[in-house]
Amino acid sequence: MDERTPVSEWATDFDHLTDEWRDHSIEILADLRERCPVASTDRFFGAYLVTRFDDVADVARRTEVFSSRITMINDSHPDKVKLEIPPITLDPPDHGPIRRALLPAFNPREVDLLEPFVVEMTNRLIDDIIDREFVDGAADYAQIVPVETMAHLFGVPSEMGPQFRRWVDGMLKEGVKDVEVARKANREVQAYFAEQLADRREHPADDLITMVLNAGAQEEDGMVRPFTERERIGALFVLLLGGVDTTWSFLGSSLMFLGSHPGHLQQLRDDPSLLPSAVEELLRYFAPVTIARVITEDSEISGCPVDAGKRLMLSFQSANRDDAHFDRPDEVIFDRQKNRHMAFGVGIHRCLGSNLARMEVQVALETWLARIPNFELTIDESEIEWSVGAVRGPAHVPLRIVK
Ligand code: HEM
Repeated sequence: MDERTPVSEWATDFDHLTDEWRDHSIEILADLRERCPVASTDRFFGAYLVTRFDDVADVARRTEVFSSRITMINDSHPDKVKLEIPPITLDPPDHGPIRRALLPAFNPREVDLLEPFVVEMTNRLIDDIIDREFVDGAADYAQIVPVETMAHLFGVPSEMGPQFRRWVDGMLKEGVKDVEVARKANREVQAYFAEQLADRREHPADDLITMVLNAGAQEEDGMVRPFTERERIGALFVLLLGGVDTTWSFLGSSLMFLGSHPGHLQQLRDDPSLLPSAVEELLRYFAPVTIARVITEDSEISGCPVDAGKRLMLSFQSANRDDAHFDRPDEVIFDRQKNRHMAFGVGIHRCLGSNLARMEVQVALETWLARIPNFELTIDESEIEWSVGAVRGPAHVPLRIVK
């Protein structure tokens, strides 16, 4: 039962925390792109929702007007949102130095080195489910892959996986509606990373926590200054938040799609070399992340005035379905030729972990398809329970393995 006031008109009263949005956001966004590309609401102390490709790109690039200081829209007053997770919550000139320090850990060479671990881990997960008839593609597989990958990168035991999941859910799902839940998760994550950093001071290791411990912010003039402790904790926090729920939501959506589209599944079985472009197309189609900005001065977007102090939501999902940029945007075309989608964002905050995310999902699907080539969704796609919040993904993906 939805306890929020029902939306009267999506163009002027939107609410992305309602059950109606959860169940029908794709249709709502399609309608808004046509008739009101910059929607508004008096809820959330006043906010906007940007839906067209060009407008989303425009906002993401005008960092002087659209600040990343706040990246979430919930019922809290904007002044009360105090999550510092650099670089995602920083604007220029502070953003670049932190981002440049973290980038090397996620370059293609580092990601290649990680691939054998993901191959071994995904095969281990399949060993546990392959003899069953019914599996949950989300809970038994998609939700575990990025959690184990991040635990491995951080250099902490994989037993931390369930705790990581609870924290990320607390921050990005339950916490969007219940601020107390988010606060509690926030406190616990900060304390955890502070402890881990203290441990690496005594026992340095070849892992991401040690790398962040020793990282230096690289200023424009070439000077390097050590990260502050707050920056270290914030950076580890954003890697956990950014690296886990996004990837599991996307992998879960992909398995759900393949389980309910036998023609597409057959296409991948017939030609596994299609997988990289299929993953790109599924990224375009599902684009799980919706992010916010706060407006620092009165401005306009495609002629629509927007007021300083209010927040604004960027729907990458909606941008990716804009027919001004994509032919037949509501169809999944695995060999789509032109596919400059925005699932990883655009501009200075473009996803820092995109190489890692692509590798994880490609390996996870490759392993699954090699060992479970035939499977089907046991419920109708319309019955899938989607998560509400900054990241959209299926809570469960009930599948039957067809022997
Ligand atoms: C399918 C998986 C993923 C999707 C769809 C995704 C999506 C995004 C998007 C849309 C942004 C831009 C946010 C903005 O404009 O404010 C972003 C930023 C970011 N992502 Fe990802 N992401 C994924 C996986 C990952 C992974 C695996 C990591 C790291 C382990 C990661 C770390 C980050 C970080 C640190 C940023 C902030 C970059 C900055 O501010 O410069 N993401 N991501």
